[in-house]
Amino acid sequence: MSMAPLRHLLVTGGAGFIGSAFVRQRLAAEPDLRITVLDKLTYAGSLENLAEITDSRRLAFIQGDICDRAAVDRAAKDVDAIVNFAAESHVDRSLLEAGEFVQTDVYGTHVLLEAARRYQHRRFLQVSTDEVYGHVASGRSAEADRLEPRSPYSATKAGAEMLVHAYRQSFAVPTLVTRGSNTYGPYQFPEKIISLFITNALQDLPLPIYGDGSAVRDYLYVDDHVDAIATVLNNGEPGSVYNVGAGAEVSGVTVADTVLEFCGKPASLKQFVKDRPGHDYRYALDVERIRPLGWESRVSFRDGMRLTVDWYKKHDAWWRRRKEADFWKYYRRNYQGLPSGAIPQ
Ligand code: NAD
Ligand code: TYD
Repeated sequence: MSMAPLRHLLVTGGAGFIGSAFVRQRLAAEPDLRITVLDKLTYAGSLENLAEITDSRRLAFIQGDICDRAAVDRAAKDVDAIVNFAAESHVDRSLLEAGEFVQTDVYGTHVLLEAARRYQHRRFLQVSTDEVYGHVASGRSAEADRLEPRSPYSATKAGAEMLVHAYRQSFAVPTLVTRGSNTYGPYQFPEKIISLFITNALQDLPLPIYGDGSAVRDYLYVDDHVDAIATVLNNGEPGSVYNVGAGAEVSGVTVADTVLEFCGKPASLKQFVKDRPGHDYRYALDVERIRPLGWESRVSFRDGMRLTVDWYKKHDAWWRRRKEADFWKYYRRNYQGLPSGAIPQ
């Protein structure tokens, strides 16, 4: 028997990249749905990402921290379910400073789980990542595999999952977990490989490829990812974990070549730089479990890249506002020893 529709969702981190895509897609797809967004608006979040939504009666926004119990209580008391996107999300930043990751990704998830327990929500969906499996030398990760996170970021996401599991076991909170693969598309902060490489190419700046560029990821177009999250939220089995991936294996060099092709820029912009410490060279997912729920990825890597490059070309002001002084401070710290010309003067 299928569940009565969820009418009011609390979407944490809904002003970020994937969260805002989820909010835009669900409000358009479900005319009776209301969404409250709780977002701290860190460097990665912005109300600009929700500006396309004109039906303001169905969307409420609260600026607040998921670690703040009072703010979470206020946001969570009238909803049917929480979908938790809020997180510090970039591996390289976690290698520079991991404290905020532990705080938001682990402690913040605990505060949200407490609210779900107290208000007896009908669902709690934790948006997790395939990075919790760690580097996968061969084969594909299935949901029952061991979690072997290797970066501070993936360790905090795995820690959050352990809490989700504990709240299911101890307090029967109706939890769901999605482990999505590397996601790309419009509105992604220009720090992850695809959004960084596209915007660097449009600025005629070098594309910094770690090591020899052979590390592979399973890139997933953002609309496919949020569609999977909605599918699991509405049709998933409480207590379950679902991998979400496109099944493609794309190397860093292929990302760079594809960006340069679609941006019409020369191969000379490729620049091989010092490798990331503890680099996970391969993630690969088995996605058989989610298929019976009726989800599959629809957008191929090349089609998704074409759509994404077009979006960044048309939204020059959006990404330029994100590549200002603080961004270049981070960039200099992360990509040490870059030659002059790698950073705008
Ligand atoms: P993002 O960094 O673009 O957005 C994160 C959002 O969370 C921002 O709006 C930020 O302001 C908000 N936030 C951060 N700390 C907060 C706090 N303490 N309280 C409230 N809000 C806070 O991230 P994203 O790429 O959209 O990722 C969203 C989720 O999906 C994350 O949980 C991430 O781990 C997961 N995920 C991401 C990918 C990917 O490739 N980007 C893949 C799989 C899973
Ligand atoms: P990234 O987008 O940071 O995602 P992940 O969380 O999976 O590490 O990186 C994806 C891949 O691209 C990973 O193999 C590291 C590589 N990469 C580069 O080569 N150069 C870069 O500047 C970045 C950010 C990533």
